[in-house]
Amino acid sequence: MIRLGFFASHNGSNMGAVIEACQGGKLAARPSVVISNNSRAHALTRAQQAAIPTYHRSSQTHATPELLDQAIGEILAEHQIELVILAGYMRKLGPKTLAAYQGRILNIHPALLPKFGGQHMYGNHVHAAVLAAGERATGVTIHLVEADYDTGPIVAQCPVPVLADDTVETLGARVLQREHQFLVETLARILSGEINLMKLVGSN
Ligand code: GRF
Repeated sequence: MIRLGFFASHNGSNMGAVIEACQGGKLAARPSVVISNNSRAHALTRAQQAAIPTYHRSSQTHATPELLDQAIGEILAEHQIELVILAGYMRKLGPKTLAAYQGRILNIHPALLPKFGGQHMYGNHVHAAVLAAGERATGVTIHLVEADYDTGPIVAQCPVPVLADDTVETLGARVLQREHQFLVETLARILSGEINLMKLVGSN
């Protein structure tokens, strides 16, 4: 079973969907560690309830970005993580971790990248921007992680309609629900070999 490592800063509902799929036998993977920059992230509680080891690692626990990068890399190595999933992680990973896991770090984003991505495009900001732009469709993107926010080769995308009477909240809820399914579906395609992440490295 492939060993998954998660990074999450807040709620962790996408991570939760993957954990459930693994527990239910829908995904042949073992969620093996969860790291958060936020000691109070609900994602950590969810992970603890599922008996998954958790770590709070941030600028509060490590004096420099280099030491933090090193510490994160050591945790991933210690838990023999093979595939990393950023599921609502609000920080960048450091160069050592990115290099050690090239082609093996995924991020999920609640829009159709390259539209509506970047540093300030998170949470409801994304859905507000989609509505302000008058888009008729938005969606979910799963991509390989590179040094910048929301860049990196696209692994899979799935559309979600924008309805005429949508608010930020209704649209956000519809996208999030789709994210939960799509993340599990896409991981299944990666695990089956249908999607080869290594072939995507450097393809953007
Ligand atoms: C999701 O919308 C994800 O696409 C984005 O952050 C949000 C995390 O939600 N990167 P949750 O913590 O998984 O509930």
